[in-house]
Amino acid sequence: MKNIVVLVSGGGTNLQALIDAQKNGIIKNGKITCVISSNPSAYALERARNNGIDTAVIRRKDYEEFDTYDEALTNLLISKNADLVVLAGFMTILGHRVISAFKDRMINIHPALIPSFCGEGYYGLKVHEAVLEKGVKLSGATTHFVTEECDGGPIIMQKSIEVKNDDTPKTLQRRIMEEIEWKILPISVELFCSDRIKISNNKTIILD
Ligand code: GAR
Repeated sequence: MKNIVVLVSGGGTNLQALIDAQKNGIIKNGKITCVISSNPSAYALERARNNGIDTAVIRRKDYEEFDTYDEALTNLLISKNADLVVLAGFMTILGHRVISAFKDRMINIHPALIPSFCGEGYYGLKVHEAVLEKGVKLSGATTHFVTEECDGGPIIMQKSIEVKNDDTPKTLQRRIMEEIEWKILPISVELFCSDRIKISNNKTIILD
């Protein structure tokens, strides 16, 4: 059984999808043991407490130097014995210390079809605004491992939906969450927890 620690910053609907997946058996080989937030008033923390999951808060602004913050987050994750770290709407930039400590053991969900609409500055609603601004006809979400390149690590799963003529950033965001994110994130986590993801040449191979 793998020990899962989830990093959050906001509403935590993806965290909720993970908690539900654990309850309904989609996640069988892992257990969420701690939720860490960059924001003390994130509703995601409430979701964790409602489910008896340990919580912690770590704020970038409490550290003068980025490096000290990076070290503190790394140590916190190590102290929680994380086998897998899941970024479920975590909006703070990660440093190279934490990324290397959890190399091939940190999964992020991004609300677009990587390599489009990703990288620095593309997060939350901004992604969907950019998608609508460009006029692409398909969008979606991607799960991937975290590497030093922002949103550039090995892709685990992707799914697409059609963009509608009357979509707003909010309607598109909601549809992508409901139809894609809340499904592919739990499945990706279970694939990891059951040792079914092989990484080679910055790509993944999913084993049956
Ligand atoms: C989700 O749409 C997630 O994909 C996105 O933030 C939202 C968090 O919602 N993440 C990013 O943009 C990361 N670059 P949630 O707190 O309800 O899960």
